Amino acid sequence: MTLAFVPVAKPETVRVSSRIALLDSIAALDIPLVEREIAGRRVVFVNEPDLVREVLTVQAASFEKSEFQQRVMGMAEGSDTGLGNGMLTSSNAVNKQQRRVLGRVFSAAATERYVGDAALAARQLRDQWVDGASVELGSALMGLATRTVAKTLFSWELGDDEARVVEHLNRIGSLLGRKAEQRRAGWDDPSVIREAAAFLEQRLGALVAERRNTLAQRSPEARDVLDLLLEAQACETTAEGVTAAAAPPAGAHEKDVYAVTERQIRDEVMTLFITGSENPRNALTWTLYLLSRHPEALERIHREVDRAGVRDGELDAATLEALPFTLQVYKEALRLFPPGYAFGRRALADVKVGPLKLERETEVVISPYALHRRPSLFERATEFVPDRFKPERAKSLHAYAFLPFGAGARACIGGGFALMQGHVALAVLAGGLHFTCDSKEPLLPEPRMTLRPSGDAFVRVHHRVDA
Ligand code: HEM
Repeated sequence: MTLAFVPVAKPETVRVSSRIALLDSIAALDIPLVEREIAGRRVVFVNEPDLVREVLTVQAASFEKSEFQQRVMGMAEGSDTGLGNGMLTSSNAVNKQQRRVLGRVFSAAATERYVGDAALAARQLRDQWVDGASVELGSALMGLATRTVAKTLFSWELGDDEARVVEHLNRIGSLLGRKAEQRRAGWDDPSVIREAAAFLEQRLGALVAERRNTLAQRSPEARDVLDLLLEAQACETTAEGVTAAAAPPAGAHEKDVYAVTERQIRDEVMTLFITGSENPRNALTWTLYLLSRHPEALERIHREVDRAGVRDGELDAATLEALPFTLQVYKEALRLFPPGYAFGRRALADVKVGPLKLERETEVVISPYALHRRPSLFERATEFVPDRFKPERAKSLHAYAFLPFGAGARACIGGGFALMQGHVALAVLAGGLHFTCDSKEPLLPEPRMTLRPSGDAFVRVHHRVDA
């Protein structure tokens, strides 16, 4: 790429009727950089793999999380209902220490151990569905995602609480990240989100309190998020609660020191529970919706699970390797409808990204949605073509062209977990069922905290009886 002549689209060339229309326009422009003024601030959309690498990796030290992400998701506009100072919204310095404490529950070895639980949760959902019923994917898959994350990361069997926990998570996912004008116009009643957050906080708080009493009896091999947080808290070495496990860098500013206080534990578990259920909910909803409209891909999944001998959904990490097409389908859905449709960074100092000089405080937006739909990066960019992720074809993709989980030090910590979970859920649900689209209107992407479908996604399901 000739960096000296990278065009920057002028604001008037970009339609702005809605957030998704803006991202569609940016994709269709098929150029590396688009600049806009939003609420009096200069915002630069970086939509070119080499430049995305500059922002997220090469020059990552010159950027922090965007103000939007920290304000809207972190504190839900000054209230106490958001993700607080959890891993998604914390500063880079705190995040480094958080990852040191919690990283091991997301390791490849831990992820392999979760396959059995993920498959069991998917089989339970599949077997609940009555033959010939019309099911709403969004709420059903929120249930699946919630049960999986609760069991694997918190060793929590939801039991009788499940329906209420899922309902409150669903509410938070649909309200967090709504457009500022909608919130200001009072379309959202803040008490609704406050009530939902308070409910989850109470349940997770009780879980943490219970674990405090049983920590000593836990097996060292199966330590989950709660064990790691409580152990880090118990290792406090100073009156301020700084843990030995997560020692801050020398000379760190007070706000950059990670202290495992009660409030911090609340923020960590809320962040993981909310992001770990909302993202997979939407990724899987989009995938099954796409399959309901692409029967040829669904049939290929049927043939694949039959060949691997896992039509019953009894899976382990080794059997997943025999299901490459199923994973391709999930990746293609993540390309077309990435739940993390856009994320932001704020320049900490004047910085040069390719040909562009960014002043301190400039907001940079990276949109996997717009990047994944650039015609020059992906042939037939708006079509569903799972074979583009065949290993031999995917090799020619730029490493920063397909970014459903972001990249660099702030990439999704749950990326490996999410790919495993999606792979397993598709093998069980798509592998064991026939389904057809049962929604009257086509579903459109609707940006909230993540990319939700614009309405209910109904499919009619039939259990497979074919030979
Ligand atoms: C299909 C599923 C998922 C998608 C598409 C997704 C997407 C993303 C993206 C794009 C980011 C980067 C945001 C940025 O750079 O600003 C991110 C970060 C994050 N995700 Fe995910 N995610 C998924 C599943 C999960 C799961 C299952 C968990 C936890 C159980 C999780 C927890 C997190 C956390 C904690 C961060 C913040 C990481 C950090 O800044 O250190 N995500 N995710």
